[in-house]
Amino acid sequence: MPVPLLDLNAQNLPLESELQEAFRRVLRSGQFILGSEIDHFEKHIAQMVGAQHAVSVSSGTDAILLALMALDIKAGDEVICPSFTFFATAGGIARTGATPVFVDSCPDSFNLDPNLLEAKITNRTKAIIPVHLFGQSADLDPILKISKSHGLAVIEDAAQALGATYRGQPVGSLGTFGTFSFFPTKNLGGFGDSGLVTTNNDELAEKARLLRTHGSKPKYYHKYIGANFRMDPLQAALIGVKLPHYPDYIEKRLANAIYYSQQLSDLGFDHARVESSNLKMILPESCSQSGHIWNQYTLRILGTDHRDALKTHLTNLQIGSEIYYPVPLHQQECFAYLQNKPEDFPVSNQLAQEVLSIPIFPELSEGQRNEVVAGIKSFWN
Ligand SMILES: Cc1ncc(COP(=O)(O)O)c(C=O)c1O
Repeated sequence: MPVPLLDLNAQNLPLESELQEAFRRVLRSGQFILGSEIDHFEKHIAQMVGAQHAVSVSSGTDAILLALMALDIKAGDEVICPSFTFFATAGGIARTGATPVFVDSCPDSFNLDPNLLEAKITNRTKAIIPVHLFGQSADLDPILKISKSHGLAVIEDAAQALGATYRGQPVGSLGTFGTFSFFPTKNLGGFGDSGLVTTNNDELAEKARLLRTHGSKPKYYHKYIGANFRMDPLQAALIGVKLPHYPDYIEKRLANAIYYSQQLSDLGFDHARVESSNLKMILPESCSQSGHIWNQYTLRILGTDHRDALKTHLTNLQIGSEIYYPVPLHQQECFAYLQNKPEDFPVSNQLAQEVLSIPIFPELSEGQRNEVVAGIKSFWN
């Protein structure tokens, strides 16, 4: 039985009549820019995240850029972010004219290593962007402590982590800004591109709202140089249909993660036991302080070239898998001008060689999960 990495139809088609009704509502309203659908959606997400303000935007990428613009980040500034993340985290920094400064990651959580943070801070540093990668919070306490002592803003890149928690608090509510994505592969996947920023700072929220519409207030009077970063009301209405189901989606992802971790335990162990065992893989860990939402279930496949060979093996069995991410940011061609030394990022380099994400979407059936486990095991038999 083929198992796709993600089956969007399995989630969306059961909601078809409600989605059509939402479309009809927006069509008949004649309101296609901002308005009540957007207000309603923003209120709902602000409540979920426990933030005072939510400003919906055109994508998770634009959410990062908008947060940086609201903080006046510009050429000559430095912003710290992990080297092992999706490109948008650093792309946004570079687009403001500032310099992305990369930090290596923790091998167990895949997230920015706070122990390496302080050494990267200079008198040009203005902000830190920890990423809650694969649905698990970065270790925020030390990051927030360091940022406070140096007077730096923190933008939590929570594109993959809506509803994840850190010490019981929802991510996106703890930094200066939180940024989110509703790209279709995210846990709350939309029907195209959109995103959102959250903040508890009234002034920054107001500025972000202005920047979202060309920095103007009133219309045609421009206080700032902004852009068009708006989310469509149609998108808000459609994603709104999925909101009541979101806790159930998360629960099912968690159940899939638990299942994989049990079924694959004879091939791999968690990071704590890696030193003492002859392993094939390292299973992803849910750190004690984090409420993981499992956007990805990411294995580390040990042994030279074994990851790529396993991926090919799974493809031949019609089982989807993906490498998030094959090239760390310090090695990207577009960042060659930064002249980073690969040897300064040993963990990111290793993760890029070893990671493989397997299907974990909520609608995965019992049979499909078994197929994935059997497919992985057959690689070593
Ligand atoms: C960590 C991270 N940051 C930012 C983004 C950008 O989000 P979007 O695709 O909505 O622009 C993504 C999306 O893939 C992401 O995974």
